[in-house]
Amino acid sequence: MSFLDLEDSVAPLEKEAARGKIVRAIRDLPWDDRVLCVRINAWDTRWTYQDVIEVVGSAGERLDEVMLPKVQCAADVEALDRLLTQVELNSGLPVGHIGIEAQIESTRGLINVEEICAASPRLETIVFGPADFAASMEMPVLTGGIQIPEYPGDHFHYVFSKILMAGRANGLQVIDGPYLKIKDTDGLRDYCLRTATLGYDGKWALHPDQVAVINQVYLPTQEQFDRAWAILDAYREATEGERKGAVMFGDEMIDEASRKMAIKFVTRGERAGMVRSAG
Ligand code: GLV
Ligand code: MG
Repeated sequence: MSFLDLEDSVAPLEKEAARGKIVRAIRDLPWDDRVLCVRINAWDTRWTYQDVIEVVGSAGERLDEVMLPKVQCAADVEALDRLLTQVELNSGLPVGHIGIEAQIESTRGLINVEEICAASPRLETIVFGPADFAASMEMPVLTGGIQIPEYPGDHFHYVFSKILMAGRANGLQVIDGPYLKIKDTDGLRDYCLRTATLGYDGKWALHPDQVAVINQVYLPTQEQFDRAWAILDAYREATEGERKGAVMFGDEMIDEASRKMAIKFVTRGERAGMVRSAG
Protein backbone atom coordinates (compact mmCIF):
# COMPACT_ATOMS: atom_id res chain seq x y z
CA MET A 1 0.00 0.00 0.00
CA SER A 2 1.20 3.52 -0.71
CA PHE A 3 -0.24 6.73 0.64
CA LEU A 4 0.13 10.31 -0.43
CA ASP A 5 -0.13 12.96 2.26
CA LEU A 6 -2.14 16.15 2.51
CA GLU A 7 -1.86 16.30 6.31
CA ASP A 8 1.09 16.92 8.62
CA SER A 9 3.89 16.67 6.04
CA VAL A 10 2.33 19.53 4.04
CA ALA A 11 2.79 23.12 5.28
CA PRO A 12 -0.47 25.02 5.92
CA LEU A 13 0.34 27.52 3.16
CA GLU A 14 0.71 24.67 0.65
CA LYS A 15 -2.44 22.71 1.56
CA GLU A 16 -4.60 23.91 -1.34
CA ALA A 17 -1.84 23.59 -3.97
CA ALA A 18 -0.97 20.10 -2.73
CA ARG A 19 -4.39 18.75 -3.76
CA GLY A 20 -3.73 19.35 -7.46
CA LYS A 21 -0.27 17.79 -7.19
CA ILE A 22 -1.76 14.70 -5.60
CA VAL A 23 -4.45 14.42 -8.26
CA ARG A 24 -1.76 14.60 -10.98
CA ALA A 25 0.41 12.07 -9.16
CA ILE A 26 -2.49 9.62 -8.85
CA ARG A 27 -3.32 9.98 -12.52
CA ASP A 28 0.18 10.09 -14.02
CA LEU A 29 2.47 7.84 -11.98
CA PRO A 30 2.66 4.07 -12.58
CA TRP A 31 1.05 2.68 -9.41
CA ASP A 32 0.58 -0.81 -10.88
CA ASP A 33 -1.89 -2.77 -8.79
CA ARG A 34 -0.87 -1.45 -5.38
CA VAL A 35 -3.49 -0.18 -2.95
CA LEU A 36 -3.42 3.61 -3.23
CA CYS A 37 -4.49 5.92 -0.41
CA VAL A 38 -4.49 9.67 0.28
CA ARG A 39 -4.29 11.03 3.81
CA ILE A 40 -6.61 14.02 4.03
CA ASN A 41 -6.68 16.65 6.77
CA ALA A 42 -8.55 16.03 10.03
CA TRP A 43 -12.03 17.37 10.76
CA ASP A 44 -10.65 19.96 13.20
CA THR A 45 -9.10 21.88 10.27
CA ARG A 46 -10.80 23.82 7.47
CA TRP A 47 -9.44 21.59 4.68
CA THR A 48 -11.15 18.21 5.06
CA TYR A 49 -14.24 18.47 2.86
CA GLN A 50 -12.41 20.21 0.03
CA ASP A 51 -9.62 17.59 0.19
CA VAL A 52 -12.21 14.88 -0.41
CA ILE A 53 -14.11 16.75 -3.11
CA GLU A 54 -11.01 17.64 -5.09
CA VAL A 55 -9.00 14.44 -4.74
CA VAL A 56 -11.78 11.84 -4.88
CA GLY A 57 -13.78 13.93 -7.35
CA SER A 58 -10.85 14.26 -9.77
CA ALA A 59 -8.87 11.05 -9.28
CA GLY A 60 -11.27 8.77 -7.41
CA GLU A 61 -11.29 6.08 -10.06
CA ARG A 62 -7.70 4.98 -9.35
CA LEU A 63 -7.88 5.76 -5.64
CA ASP A 64 -8.63 2.88 -3.25
CA GLU A 65 -8.77 4.54 0.15
CA VAL A 66 -8.79 7.80 2.05
CA MET A 67 -6.97 7.98 5.38
CA LEU A 68 -8.59 10.12 8.07
CA PRO A 69 -6.12 11.31 10.72
CA LYS A 70 -6.85 12.24 14.34
CA VAL A 71 -10.14 10.33 14.47
CA GLN A 72 -11.78 11.14 17.79
CA CYS A 73 -15.15 9.37 17.65
CA ALA A 74 -17.40 7.28 15.40
CA ALA A 75 -19.11 10.43 14.07
CA ASP A 76 -15.83 11.51 12.43
CA VAL A 77 -15.83 8.33 10.34
CA GLU A 78 -19.58 8.52 9.65
CA ALA A 79 -19.25 12.10 8.39
CA LEU A 80 -16.47 11.05 5.99
CA ASP A 81 -18.54 8.08 4.84
CA ARG A 82 -21.48 10.37 3.94
CA LEU A 83 -19.28 12.90 2.18
CA LEU A 84 -17.62 10.11 0.18
CA THR A 85 -21.03 8.80 -0.87
CA GLN A 86 -22.01 12.21 -2.27
CA VAL A 87 -18.69 12.68 -4.07
CA GLU A 88 -18.90 9.17 -5.53
CA LEU A 89 -22.46 9.81 -6.76
CA ASN A 90 -21.42 13.10 -8.38
CA SER A 91 -18.33 11.57 -10.00
CA GLY A 92 -19.97 8.47 -11.45
CA LEU A 93 -18.12 6.15 -9.09
CA PRO A 94 -19.84 3.16 -7.48
CA VAL A 95 -20.96 4.01 -3.95
CA GLY A 96 -18.55 2.36 -1.53
CA HIS A 97 -15.65 2.46 -4.04
CA ILE A 98 -13.41 4.37 -1.60
CA GLY A 99 -12.40 2.63 1.62
CA ILE A 100 -11.38 4.37 4.84
CA GLU A 101 -8.26 4.04 6.97
CA ALA A 102 -8.67 5.65 10.41
CA GLN A 103 -5.73 6.90 12.46
CA ILE A 104 -5.98 6.63 16.22
CA GLU A 105 -3.59 9.21 17.57
CA SER A 106 -5.26 11.06 20.41
CA THR A 107 -6.42 10.18 23.90
CA ARG A 108 -10.06 10.67 22.89
CA GLY A 109 -9.57 8.52 19.82
CA LEU A 110 -8.13 5.72 21.93
CA ILE A 111 -10.95 5.92 24.46
CA ASN A 112 -13.47 5.64 21.58
CA VAL A 113 -11.54 3.17 19.45
CA GLU A 114 -14.14 0.42 19.80
CA GLU A 115 -16.99 2.50 18.40
CA ILE A 116 -14.66 3.99 15.77
CA CYS A 117 -13.73 0.55 14.44
CA ALA A 118 -17.44 -0.29 14.01
CA ALA A 119 -18.43 3.07 12.48
CA SER A 120 -18.61 2.30 8.74
CA PRO A 121 -18.50 -0.60 6.31
CA ARG A 122 -15.95 1.44 4.37
CA LEU A 123 -13.38 0.97 7.15
CA GLU A 124 -10.54 -1.30 6.09
CA THR A 125 -7.67 -0.40 8.37
CA ILE A 126 -6.99 1.13 11.74
CA VAL A 127 -3.62 2.83 12.17
CA PHE A 128 -1.82 3.91 15.34
CA GLY A 129 -0.14 7.35 15.16
CA PRO A 130 2.59 7.33 17.83
CA ALA A 131 3.87 10.87 17.32
CA ASP A 132 0.54 12.64 17.67
CA PHE A 133 -0.45 10.21 20.40
CA ALA A 134 2.66 11.07 22.45
CA ALA A 135 1.77 14.76 22.02
CA SER A 136 -1.86 14.13 23.00
CA MET A 137 -0.79 12.29 26.16
CA GLU A 138 1.70 15.08 26.93
CA MET A 139 4.45 12.50 27.29
CA PRO A 140 7.81 14.09 28.12
CA VAL A 141 9.41 12.92 24.85
CA LEU A 142 10.56 14.77 21.76
CA THR A 143 10.33 11.82 19.36
CA GLY A 144 7.16 9.75 19.27
CA GLY A 145 7.16 6.02 18.69
CA ILE A 146 10.61 5.09 19.91
CA GLN A 147 11.59 3.15 22.98
CA ILE A 148 11.91 5.13 26.25
CA PRO A 149 14.78 3.43 28.14
CA GLU A 150 13.78 5.05 31.46
CA TYR A 151 10.38 3.32 31.33
CA PRO A 152 10.39 -0.23 32.71
CA GLY A 153 8.46 -2.00 29.95
CA ASP A 154 6.80 -0.81 26.79
CA HIS A 155 5.02 2.49 27.39
CA PHE A 156 2.69 1.79 24.45
CA HIS A 157 1.80 -1.80 25.28
CA TYR A 158 -1.72 -0.96 26.47
CA VAL A 159 -2.31 1.28 23.46
CA PHE A 160 -1.10 -1.34 20.98
CA SER A 161 -3.27 -4.05 22.53
CA LYS A 162 -6.39 -1.92 22.80
CA ILE A 163 -6.25 -0.81 19.16
CA LEU A 164 -5.46 -4.33 17.97
CA MET A 165 -8.40 -5.86 19.81
CA ALA A 166 -10.84 -3.22 18.57
CA GLY A 167 -9.61 -3.66 15.01
CA ARG A 168 -9.71 -7.45 15.03
CA ALA A 169 -13.17 -7.50 16.65
CA ASN A 170 -14.37 -5.65 13.55
CA GLY A 171 -12.36 -7.55 10.97
CA LEU A 172 -9.97 -4.67 10.20
CA GLN A 173 -6.29 -4.63 9.30
CA VAL A 174 -4.24 -3.12 12.11
CA ILE A 175 -1.11 -1.13 11.31
CA ASP A 176 1.49 0.62 13.46
CA GLY A 177 2.53 4.14 12.38
CA PRO A 178 5.88 5.74 11.64
CA TYR A 179 9.32 5.20 13.16
CA LEU A 180 10.80 8.65 12.91
CA LYS A 181 14.51 7.83 13.35
CA ILE A 182 15.04 6.95 9.71
CA LYS A 183 18.68 5.85 10.00
CA ASP A 184 18.15 3.72 13.11
CA THR A 185 17.28 0.39 11.51
CA ASP A 186 18.07 -1.62 14.67
CA GLY A 187 15.61 0.49 16.66
CA LEU A 188 13.06 0.10 13.87
CA ARG A 189 13.49 -3.69 13.92
CA ASP A 190 13.00 -3.73 17.69
CA TYR A 191 9.81 -1.68 17.39
CA CYS A 192 8.45 -3.78 14.53
CA LEU A 193 9.00 -6.91 16.62
CA ARG A 194 6.83 -5.52 19.40
CA THR A 195 3.73 -4.96 17.30
CA ALA A 196 4.37 -7.92 14.97
CA THR A 197 4.52 -10.20 18.02
CA LEU A 198 1.19 -8.90 19.28
CA GLY A 199 -0.42 -9.55 15.88
CA TYR A 200 -0.22 -6.28 13.92
CA ASP A 201 -0.28 -6.59 10.14
CA GLY A 202 2.47 -4.08 9.40
CA LYS A 203 4.05 -0.70 10.00
CA TRP A 204 4.47 2.49 7.99
CA ALA A 205 7.68 3.06 6.08
CA LEU A 206 8.72 6.71 5.79
CA HIS A 207 11.82 5.96 3.70
CA PRO A 208 12.78 3.19 1.24
CA ASP A 209 15.51 2.04 3.68
CA GLN A 210 12.81 1.06 6.19
CA VAL A 211 10.89 -1.20 3.80
CA ALA A 212 13.22 -4.23 3.93
CA VAL A 213 13.30 -4.30 7.75
CA ILE A 214 9.53 -3.98 8.02
CA ASN A 215 8.83 -6.69 5.44
CA GLN A 216 11.31 -9.02 7.09
CA VAL A 217 9.77 -8.69 10.56
CA TYR A 218 6.07 -8.85 9.62
CA LEU A 219 6.39 -11.74 7.18
CA PRO A 220 6.60 -15.31 8.48
CA THR A 221 9.98 -17.00 8.19
CA GLN A 222 10.19 -19.91 5.75
CA GLU A 223 10.34 -22.24 8.76
CA GLN A 224 7.13 -20.80 10.24
CA PHE A 225 5.43 -20.91 6.85
CA ASP A 226 6.37 -24.58 6.30
CA ARG A 227 5.39 -25.53 9.84
CA ALA A 228 2.02 -23.81 9.47
CA TRP A 229 1.37 -25.83 6.31
CA ALA A 230 2.42 -29.03 8.05
CA ILE A 231 -0.02 -28.29 10.90
CA LEU A 232 -2.83 -27.73 8.39
CA ASP A 233 -2.03 -31.02 6.64
CA ALA A 234 -1.82 -32.96 9.90
CA TYR A 235 -5.02 -31.45 11.21
CA ARG A 236 -6.94 -32.14 7.99
CA GLU A 237 -5.77 -35.76 8.06
CA ALA A 238 -6.85 -36.01 11.74
CA THR A 239 -10.31 -34.49 11.29
CA GLU A 240 -11.21 -35.87 7.88
CA GLY A 241 -9.27 -39.18 7.86
CA GLU A 242 -9.34 -40.24 11.49
CA ARG A 243 -12.38 -38.17 12.59
CA LYS A 244 -10.42 -36.77 15.54
CA GLY A 245 -10.59 -33.16 16.74
CA ALA A 246 -7.27 -33.17 18.58
CA VAL A 247 -4.09 -35.05 17.70
CA MET A 248 -0.40 -34.98 18.47
CA PHE A 249 1.83 -33.06 16.08
CA GLY A 250 5.39 -33.92 17.07
CA ASP A 251 5.45 -33.33 20.82
CA GLU A 252 2.46 -30.97 20.97
CA MET A 253 -1.28 -31.29 20.74
CA ILE A 254 -3.05 -29.52 17.90
CA ASP A 255 -6.73 -28.79 17.46
CA GLU A 256 -9.06 -26.30 15.76
CA ALA A 257 -7.34 -23.33 17.42
CA SER A 258 -4.01 -24.51 15.97
CA ARG A 259 -5.60 -24.51 12.51
CA LYS A 260 -6.73 -20.92 12.98
CA MET A 261 -3.24 -19.85 14.07
CA ALA A 262 -1.64 -21.66 11.14
CA ILE A 263 -4.01 -20.13 8.60
CA LYS A 264 -2.76 -16.66 9.53
CA PHE A 265 0.85 -17.58 8.71
CA VAL A 266 -0.11 -19.25 5.45
CA THR A 267 -2.32 -16.36 4.30
CA ARG A 268 0.29 -13.73 5.13
CA GLY A 269 3.07 -15.72 3.49
CA GLU A 270 1.12 -16.49 0.34
CA ARG A 271 0.07 -12.88 -0.02
CA ALA A 272 3.78 -12.05 -0.16
CA GLY A 273 4.48 -14.79 -2.72
CA MET A 274 6.00 -17.40 -0.36
CA VAL A 275 5.89 -21.03 -1.45
CA ARG A 276 6.17 -24.14 0.63
CA SER A 277 9.60 -25.78 0.70
CA ALA A 278 9.87 -29.03 -1.22
CA GLY A 279 9.78 -32.26 0.76
C1 GLV B 1 1.41 9.74 12.52
O1 GLV B 1 0.62 10.38 11.93
C2 GLV B 1 1.77 10.01 13.88
O2 GLV B 1 1.30 11.02 14.41
O3 GLV B 1 2.56 9.23 14.44
MG1 MG C 1 -0.15 12.00 13.11
